[in-house]
Amino acid sequence: MIRSALLLVLVSCAVVVAACKTTETPPPAPAKDVKAEPVDAGPAKAEEPPPPPSKAPGGDADGRRVVLPEPPPLPNKPLGLPALPEVADNPTTPEKAELGHRLFFDKRLSKDGSMACNQCHLAARAWTTENALDAKVGGAMNKRNTPGVVNLAFHTSFYWDGRMPTLEAVSNAAWKGQLGADPAVVSAALNDVPMYKAMFQRAFAEDANVNNVPRALAAFLRTLNSGNSAWDKAQAGDKSALTAEQQEGFKVFSSKGCVNCHVPPLFTNFEFENVGIGDDPGRKDFSKADEDFGKFKVPTLRNVALTAPYFHDGSAKTLEEAIAFMAKGGGKPVAPGKISAKLKAQKLSPKEAKALKAFLESLSGDITWAQEPVVP
Ligand code: HEC
Ligand code: HEC
Repeated sequence: MIRSALLLVLVSCAVVVAACKTTETPPPAPAKDVKAEPVDAGPAKAEEPPPPPSKAPGGDADGRRVVLPEPPPLPNKPLGLPALPEVADNPTTPEKAELGHRLFFDKRLSKDGSMACNQCHLAARAWTTENALDAKVGGAMNKRNTPGVVNLAFHTSFYWDGRMPTLEAVSNAAWKGQLGADPAVVSAALNDVPMYKAMFQRAFAEDANVNNVPRALAAFLRTLNSGNSAWDKAQAGDKSALTAEQQEGFKVFSSKGCVNCHVPPLFTNFEFENVGIGDDPGRKDFSKADEDFGKFKVPTLRNVALTAPYFHDGSAKTLEEAIAFMAKGGGKPVAPGKISAKLKAQKLSPKEAKALKAFLESLSGDITWAQEPVVP
């Protein structure tokens, strides 16, 4: 089972490379039996015929037509996650998700061609970086730690202070803010790339523009999910998935009240809580209410073993440090903020702290879209 999964990974790697080599000019012939697919995209439907050219409009300036290979099917929802919510005004399609995946990795999206989204949301680090704070295009520092961007389809507010209502809005803000882009200029440049022009036409029935670039990014992000961790396997009945220490750790996690805010299966309650870190006003920046001073959105703990440093300011360097900080009841709140009533100081024995860490490590899972795309 593991071996065949591995084989699938290797095969799809080879396929991605092969498929991408053929996307160079001259325009590619439609891929027949090969398809670039995310690792867990399920069985390939190799017998399906390639789409007729009429489905792939977008001939380039020289009048050549770009014939696009079929997009990979949407990745299967990994084990352990709830059903993905529907999005009425930007339904997720394979065409949009594939396009968004490429855009996420493309430096063309930035003001000066120097940075792509994935420079701060690195696949290899569970879609974040190893830095406490990251610099935007132009050098200005972010004030808050870069979060991983998995399982966001389940959220209804974004950023540490929740000021963004949709993934479309965040993508638009990140495009302009992090990447410094003038969306009209970048959209026009994307339309000069025949492959992109064709992909936008297929996904949105229009050329790239200031609205559909963030929509494609958002569609991709909604399919960027993580699950199938050892903990998920245990929940699904696999008794050997967790070590005895990890099982003990989950008991500690529950009995010490961590579950009050980090609620399974997404390990967040989607609420804003003050745990006494730094003097950043947090949620108050958005709500203007004093009672929100110092509150931040409860981060998921999925893949937490891979996303150091921790907290909104990146102040905890290791997982041990973050666990110890939370267990002692957080830090000192800065007025007018008050520590959340859900967080109580706990006594953790060294054995319990170790078990808690082992349990948190069991939350590292598979992430859809494991392959890096090759940008056109
Ligand atoms: C220079 C680093 C950097 C780059 C480049 C970057 N981001 Fe981010 N991203 C961040 C930081 C920092 C935050 C948290 C901001 C905050 O909470 O105030 C964030 C937050 C997000 C979130 C919200 C996550 C959550 O849990 O609420 C999404 C979605 C996101 N970024 C998508 C993108 C997209 C799409 C791009 C490319 C257009 C991008 N990012 C480029 C640093 C970056
Ligand atoms: C009152 C709700 C609450 C409770 C209870 C709680 N946490 Fe948290 N946790 C948070 C919030 C909010 C943050 C982010 C704080 C910040 O950055 O300002 C956080 C951050 C973390 C982080 C860092 C995650 C990251 O990506 O930066 C870890 C690890 C963590 N908590 C573990 C625990 C453990 C272990 C317990 C139980 C001992 C616990 N938490 C109890 C709300 C809570």
